[in-house]
Amino acid sequence: MNAITRLKAISCAVATIAIMAASPTLAKTFKIAVGDGAGGTQHELGKAFIAALEAKTGKKHTATLFLNGQLGSEEDTVNNAATGTLDMSILAINNVTPFSPTVGTLTLPYVILSLEDAEKLTQGPIGQELIENTVRDAGVRIIGWAYSGFRVLTNSKRPVESVADLKGLVVRVPKNQIMIETYKAWGINPTPMAWSETFSALQQRVVDGQDNPYITVHAMKFDEVQRYVTNIRYIFSIEPLIISESVFQDLSAQDQKSILEAGQEATKHSAKFLRTKESEIKAELTARGMKISDPAGNEAEFISLATKAVWPKFYESIGGAEKLNAALKVLGRNTVQ
Ligand code: MLT
Repeated sequence: MNAITRLKAISCAVATIAIMAASPTLAKTFKIAVGDGAGGTQHELGKAFIAALEAKTGKKHTATLFLNGQLGSEEDTVNNAATGTLDMSILAINNVTPFSPTVGTLTLPYVILSLEDAEKLTQGPIGQELIENTVRDAGVRIIGWAYSGFRVLTNSKRPVESVADLKGLVVRVPKNQIMIETYKAWGINPTPMAWSETFSALQQRVVDGQDNPYITVHAMKFDEVQRYVTNIRYIFSIEPLIISESVFQDLSAQDQKSILEAGQEATKHSAKFLRTKESEIKAELTARGMKISDPAGNEAEFISLATKAVWPKFYESIGGAEKLNAALKVLGRNTVQ
């Protein structure tokens, strides 16, 4: 859907809000699209959200999860939620950025350096501003956040421990300009591809590698088609639960409150899940034969190339260098000029 068609669809959806606002909310079973498979952080967030929603509404409202991209690519689910043909979706923030570029602040390489950083940015005023921007730009509202850990590089060819080792690898990335530019800064031209197509592209060796967090690699069974892992830690993966703004506005004030509170409870659960599960899953992947490398001494080169080349390219799309500086200040880090 192009920008004009999307805008028309959003205005149409907003117009119906006014008509529907006065009606009482009927019991609903929301449909939630989920990009990843069972056992990942998206699945955990979805299950926790449903449990909290049922508890808060006395089971008046519930929801069903459609895992593994059954309801379309993550990008499609943003479009479908914007037009109100889908209720909710859980997807990676990098796949929201093309629709609402200011959320790119959360995807710039080496900005978020820990789970605590991710929590500070998403749960404070910066997160609130990004939620409002996403309603404005994309017609969807972020109501919860899954925290999935650092994206690590996996590939089927060889250990990668330095920027030079990347040369010649065909790496799939999401259709996200920040991530594309990051790999370019490291000297290779990555292959942008929808998440829903990634497993088969790895299996058929159309691409050699990809990056995603350990828990996602495990949930998607990538260990069956990938052998080498590199802890590049360039992006801490955050995966929001979004609701169609027209569906949200159609709910009574009490139901909106329950939805928002259920989203907050699910967010807390997600952080706890990551803290307890990530190392267990990493050990399991090693036991299944994945070989993990740490760039250690070479990490400074990854960081310096990415931050110098990529950050300035995206100041405009995130709303100005001051938006990055606001994030860096919240994290207690040095700001940029
Ligand atoms: C992607 O690589 O497109 C996403 O991070 C996948 C996901 O939603 O886990």
